[in-house]
Amino acid sequence: MNAAGMTGAPGAERFAPGWLELRESADAAARATDLLGPLRAHLPASPGRLVVWDLGCGTGSLGRWLAGRLDVPQHWILHDRDPDLLERARDAIPGVTTETRAGDITRLGAADLAGAGLVAASALLDLLTFDEVDALAEAITGAGCPALLTLSVAGRVELDPYDPADAEFAAAFNAHQRRETGGRSLLGPDAVTAATEAFERRGAAVRTSPSPWRLGPGDAALAAEWLRGWVAAACEERPDLPGEEYLRRRLDDCAAGRLSVVVHHRDLLAVPSCRPPGPRPKARGTR
Ligand SMILES: C[S@@+](CC[C@H](N)C(=O)[O-])C[C@H]1O[C@@H](n2cnc3c(N)ncnc32)[C@H](O)[C@@H]1O
Repeated sequence: MNAAGMTGAPGAERFAPGWLELRESADAAARATDLLGPLRAHLPASPGRLVVWDLGCGTGSLGRWLAGRLDVPQHWILHDRDPDLLERARDAIPGVTTETRAGDITRLGAADLAGAGLVAASALLDLLTFDEVDALAEAITGAGCPALLTLSVAGRVELDPYDPADAEFAAAFNAHQRRETGGRSLLGPDAVTAATEAFERRGAAVRTSPSPWRLGPGDAALAAEWLRGWVAAACEERPDLPGEEYLRRRLDDCAAGRLSVVVHHRDLLAVPSCRPPGPRPKARGTR
């Protein structure tokens, strides 16, 4: 899930390496392994190295999980707009060669992705707009390779034990994920539907699968940090909410080992086909 994550202000544009490190094992446990068989079946059968393009790679967490599961020699192109994260990602995926690209992934076209055998991403789609996801689907299907786009927020969390304020905080958080910022309307929980439709319009076959974080007493540090970001984002959206009081209650639950959290995400696999693309609907909101 993409709360501000140890960066200070909720909705911050930068992601702290400490937050990405804290979530890496929960991400790894959550990833949908049932998409791997269909993915392997659609990888190009070329004799050379498989080129995997990791969009919004952060410190390379997806590569550390996926590379060893593909069973072929690989070269990873690690692409992010944050040069500090890219520096950490470089050489941080065992068993593969890497190169880094600094810049905005929403500017990529099919020609840029030429030669890629797989485009992958993790915890990225929900940060994008409708038009940006549409353009990515255009670029990826134009390049003719599969896409594995993982860990997009689904807009649903379950906290146990129940608290009467949970639903209001969850609704405010989801509204924050769909906020307008810098003239862009973020997709948040609508990202997987938007991506599915964007790929299907271009004739790709799409499968999605749940990839929830399941945090129990053994994940107290991550759960506490997630709670802080979740509540802060909800209160940015709804300053009238009793954020301090609710957060104190929930952090007490967490510290006492009595809080479990399920944060729902979805992974998506898109496989291009030769069918001609369908008509493109109008974008919702602004870019
Ligand atoms: C939530 S982090 C996920 C990082 C990594 N994929 C992971 O799973 O640990 C989102 C990443 O996407 C990058 N990012 C977001 N929007 C981007 C854009 N338009 N162009 C390039 N990178 C972007 C951020 O810098 C950040 O590293």
